[in-house]
Amino acid sequence: MTKAGRRPLVAGNWKMNGLRSSVSVVEAVRNGLSPDLLCDVDVLICPPSTLISSCVAAVYGSPVAIGGQNLHAKRNGAFTGSISAEMLADLGASYVIVGHSERRAYHHETDDGVHAKALGARRAGLCGIICVGETQDEREEGRTLDIVRAQLAIGVPKGATGADTVIAYEPVWAIGTGLTPTPADIAEVHASLREMLGQLIGPEAAKVRILYGGSVKPGNARELMAVENVDGALVGGASLVADDFLGIVNAYAR
Ligand code: PGA
Repeated sequence: MTKAGRRPLVAGNWKMNGLRSSVSVVEAVRNGLSPDLLCDVDVLICPPSTLISSCVAAVYGSPVAIGGQNLHAKRNGAFTGSISAEMLADLGASYVIVGHSERRAYHHETDDGVHAKALGARRAGLCGIICVGETQDEREEGRTLDIVRAQLAIGVPKGATGADTVIAYEPVWAIGTGLTPTPADIAEVHASLREMLGQLIGPEAAKVRILYGGSVKPGNARELMAVENVDGALVGGASLVADDFLGIVNAYAR
C-alpha cells in the first residue's frame, strides 16, 4: 500500500502514559515486527520525554524509531520545564509531534506556534509530524476543509520536504472516542491537504506523508490505510499495547 512512492509510517503516540516498566512494550514491538514488513513501512514510537533515552536504547540496532511528543521552538534558554529539538535529537529521537490537538486545546498552541516549532524540529534535524484537525462543531458547520487547510497553510514552514515533514490529519472528535470519519470523508480531507501542500511547497508535496489519526485500531487499520492519500497512522490508545500496535503495523502486510 505504498502510494506514489511514499513509504508508509505507523507512529505511536503514548501521550502522558508510561513508566520505566513500559519500555518492555517497545521491546515487544521491536521483537514482534516481521523483517519482511519493515521493508515496506516505517515504525515510530513517541513515548513521554522521560522514557526517550531508555526507548532509544531498547530499539538500538532495529529499524524502530523513537520520537518526542512536543518541543519548545527555541534551541535553549530560560524556559523552565521545556525541552528543545536539540535535546530530543541528543537523546536519539528522530521525529517529533508538533501541534497535537491536545497541545492546542490544553496548552493554547496556535498555528504560528506550530510553525515556529516545526522550524525548530527542522533546525535540529528532526522530522516534524504536524497535526491538523477539526472539532465536532467545526465539522457540523461544514468547515472541516477550511479549518485544516488554514492550519496547514500557517503551520508548514517554507521549503518543507518529504524528509523533514509529515502531516497528520486527526479529527479532534475521533481522538480517543472510538469514532472515525468514513473512508470517503478521510479521502476528501487528505486530497485537499495534498492540494494545499502543493500550493505551499510545490512538487515536493507529492513526497510528504499524510497520516490519519483518531481511533485507529487493529480492526479498522486495513480499511483506513487503504484510503487514497493515507500514508500511515498516528495511533494513541492502541499504541500502548504491543499486540494492538503490531496489529496496526500489520495492516501493511502483503
Ligand atoms: P487515539 O489517539 O488513537 O487514542 O484516538 C490518536 C492521537 O491522539 O494521536
